[in-house]
Amino acid sequence: MAKLKSAYFCQNCGYNSPKWLGRCPSCSEWNTLVEEVIAKDEPEKGNWRFSTSGGPRPTSKPKLISEIDKTEKYRIITEDHELNRVLGGGLVPGSLTLIGGEPGIGKSTLMLQIALSLKDYIVLYVSGEESEQQIKMRAERIPFENPRCYVLTETATDQIFKQIELIEPDIVVIDSIQTLVSPLIESGAGSVSQVKECAAEIMRFAKESDVPVVMIGHITKDGSLAGPKVLEHMVDTVLQFEGDQFMTYRILRTTKNRFGNASELGIYEMLSNGLRQVSNPSEILISERNVHLSGIAIAAMIEGNRPLQIEIQSLVSTANYGTPQRSSNGFDPRRLQMLLAVLEKRGGFRLGTQDVFLNVAGGLKVEDPAIDLAVCVSVASSYEDLPVNKAYCFCAECGLGGEIRAVNRIEARISEAAKLGFEKIFIAKNNLKGINPKDFKIEIVALNKLEEVFSELFG
Ligand code: TYD
Ligand code: MG
Repeated sequence: MAKLKSAYFCQNCGYNSPKWLGRCPSCSEWNTLVEEVIAKDEPEKGNWRFSTSGGPRPTSKPKLISEIDKTEKYRIITEDHELNRVLGGGLVPGSLTLIGGEPGIGKSTLMLQIALSLKDYIVLYVSGEESEQQIKMRAERIPFENPRCYVLTETATDQIFKQIELIEPDIVVIDSIQTLVSPLIESGAGSVSQVKECAAEIMRFAKESDVPVVMIGHITKDGSLAGPKVLEHMVDTVLQFEGDQFMTYRILRTTKNRFGNASELGIYEMLSNGLRQVSNPSEILISERNVHLSGIAIAAMIEGNRPLQIEIQSLVSTANYGTPQRSSNGFDPRRLQMLLAVLEKRGGFRLGTQDVFLNVAGGLKVEDPAIDLAVCVSVASSYEDLPVNKAYCFCAECGLGGEIRAVNRIEARISEAAKLGFEKIFIAKNNLKGINPKDFKIEIVALNKLEEVFSELFG
């Protein structure tokens, strides 16, 4: 029997070493090197076309940049506007997209739904996770039909490529990359070397045939994509599908995109008949309320290219035990600490003896600094127990001196607030430069200091 060749692979970054090491020299993680059998003898004799190692390769010549054809490849516009948005306009031919998310979040549902909605295309849905019957049952719940959507339950890459040659699909979906096995690699499905090799084979296929491929990927318990980081480097686009298990809303987020903005966001609602696109997310991110409650303020934020109005809720109450608690959901806790210190020092709020709980509605995680002002207003409103008029919204960053600062893309934010029927928007005075308040159907209140905002609101 031929001797099996093995190497030690870092499960974190994909670094390989001929001998075991306690610490990965590449990513400095401890105990991540695992032995994997890499190849049967003479890998060169394998399927060279799809293999990463050895074999004849077509020669390529350098081209002058001015000679390169610049016509952008047409994109495949899917029926799913949220997906088009996160991809930067549609699926690019020959592109490789990776979509990750927790188990049960709806990755398979989303991809099957998209496969079924692409009526004008031949789609091949390869599943290594579910049986044909399970996929059929799922498909029956989804209200789309594509007579040319093929399902293949297979995990060996050579078999998959054989079927691809027969069917000649326009789009391929792989559910999931961790279940695939390449005959060139001995180690088990889901191991670093398998995932790397299978992804490399798929990438070569996509680039050579111009067929876009979407791969589903598992994630680890800390939320990052399972498998080596090289996987994320290899693919053109990385999408994260996230959401709260207990809520029906799901967010599709771009984290890398070679063909568009890398901070786009798509929103869906999981219903009994699949995922519904939510085209006006502000409706769901702001709760319906007829009574005025204290502690609620609306922020005008931007995620990617998309302006969103989002509700910030706080509860400030007297601390009963020693150290007051600060807890925040969807907002950086350290930034909250900082804003509370600013409120204490510059606004005269005695928060040192109060518990503060902050929540961003809809399970969204926000990094846009423009929501600072809404956070401060919602905390102040809860502290004073005075509600903020629900037709007001807020959009500015707060500095350590209690000053409010200008934010980017202010026009988009103001227009969205006006479109949604808000009556007043509070912004930083510096943001007035270059805009004409008369262009907007909303009253713009431009101020310099947090105190001015509070005296305007609470008198
Ligand atoms: P699934 O797509 O299997 O998740 P993943 O591939 O990310 O692991 O998600 C299935 C979940 O979605 C399951 O809990 C049932 C629910 N679901 C619906 O609520 N409505 C539907 O129409 C479908 C098909 C699934
Ligand atoms: Mg699945």
